[in-house]
Amino acid sequence: MDAKNWIDIDIERVYPLDHFVVPQHYEKDIESILIPHGMIKDRINKLAKLIVNEIPDDPIPNLVVCCVLKGGHQYFADLVDEIKRCHTSKGKSIKLSLEFLKVKSYENDQSTGDVRISLSDKELEEFRGKNLLIVEDIIDTGRTMVKLLKRLEEFGPNSIKVTSLLIKKTPHSNGYIPHYVGFAIPDAFVVGYALDYNEHFRDLDHIAVISEHGKKAYAV
Ligand code: IMP
Repeated sequence: MDAKNWIDIDIERVYPLDHFVVPQHYEKDIESILIPHGMIKDRINKLAKLIVNEIPDDPIPNLVVCCVLKGGHQYFADLVDEIKRCHTSKGKSIKLSLEFLKVKSYENDQSTGDVRISLSDKELEEFRGKNLLIVEDIIDTGRTMVKLLKRLEEFGPNSIKVTSLLIKKTPHSNGYIPHYVGFAIPDAFVVGYALDYNEHFRDLDHIAVISEHGKKAYAV
């Protein structure tokens, strides 16, 4: 996939809340809708096809799809549903296994590039020789993903591809760009479609910009 083959979302082109249905309990807590749910689903449909087109041509095409929890779970679920419906250019279906991991990067350990993955070395050994697809919700600075990839590479997978639904246009980026990106978004804090603010908003279907009211209401 071309490195910049994504949809660029402009902060000037957001949608007012009253153009869409928003849960009543969040009406004051979000400022605007950045990406409506229907558009997210349509984009995932296309991303699934792009991903399937590039799966290595094995006798039985296969992927280990790894969900980066918690924010990646909705994208993961919808993407897996779409991939299941796809066939390779040779008309073959794809055998999927699903894996779930949590990642914590420790800023204090930056010098060692430490990232703590919720899977043990024994569990990570299962990735040896496999075709991995890492599914993330958002790349912000890119630090977490770079560290995660370094760790996964130690276990000798056959291939690793990364997809992130969102990439943030931020001056703090380390330059990392995933193979498959849904949308490039402005440098604002976004919530919804499983992305959270202190564990809230995961139940909102659209991707939205949080309001000052929301930040205060759900501050810890
Ligand atoms: P990075 O290491 O800076 O790229 O951070 C990636 C992680 O930060 C993501 O997996 C999210 O959990 C979190 N994150 C970054 N920006 C946002 C946002 O705007 N909304 C919700 N979570 C975010």
